[in-house]
Amino acid sequence: MMNTLPPPFHLIALDNTDSTNDEAKRQASAGAGHGTVIWAGRQTAGRGRRGRNWVSVEGNLHCSFLLDPGRPLAEAPQLAFVAAVAVRAALAELAPGALFQVKWPNDVLCHGKKIVGMLLEQAAPLIVVGIGVNIAEAPEPGLYPTACLRQLGCGARPFDVLAGIASQLAEWYDCWRRDGFAPIRQAWLADAAGLSAPITVRLSDDVTLEGRFAGLDATGALLLELPSGEQRKILAGDVFFSSRP
Ligand code: BTN
Repeated sequence: MMNTLPPPFHLIALDNTDSTNDEAKRQASAGAGHGTVIWAGRQTAGRGRRGRNWVSVEGNLHCSFLLDPGRPLAEAPQLAFVAAVAVRAALAELAPGALFQVKWPNDVLCHGKKIVGMLLEQAAPLIVVGIGVNIAEAPEPGLYPTACLRQLGCGARPFDVLAGIASQLAEWYDCWRRDGFAPIRQAWLADAAGLSAPITVRLSDDVTLEGRFAGLDATGALLLELPSGEQRKILAGDVFFSSRP
């Protein structure tokens, strides 16, 4: 059976690559356009956020979508929230009964453990949305505890998960293009982990802030309420819900 995805997506399937994000950038340089999806069974150099490694084992999903922001460049980072809402919805359909939540900025959690990581990069004028989903294995926890779909008794295979994500992403992307960030922000907040809870935000190796997760601003920045009551907008960082590791 052909592995096809719903429009506007068309699939390039590989057994193996260094990183699907890097392959997506190469494809974009060679003329690939909006809707191209790179899917690899394995990655030899999978990359995570902030220069981290992404452990990529056979049986998990490694894919990258090339998307045209089609909105002002300053709004392109909002695609991280579009993708998070879409991936969360796809997993909730595949494993009905389990609790999936989005976590700022780019993760999806399953019962509090990281099951999806996303890495957005530029391939001007396109954006690469790289998505890793733990299906068969939950790699050793690094910064955060991890989970995988198989632990939930979910028998979905990587292509099933990819197809579910593509179908949700097509809808949420259209919604964002048409109506902007407001409905995306609303959907994201409805399934956000740790809202109103105490959090630690690691801005860099040396700088952390403690406070309360007060929500998202109208652009997607995390609102952190400091113990003084002052509200800070956080544009980038790692968020921890309990004590810092
Ligand atoms: C993170 O949580 O740090 C982001 C992880 C992103 C991993 C995915 S796997 C597919 C795509 N290719 C990569 O090299 N990284 C992303």
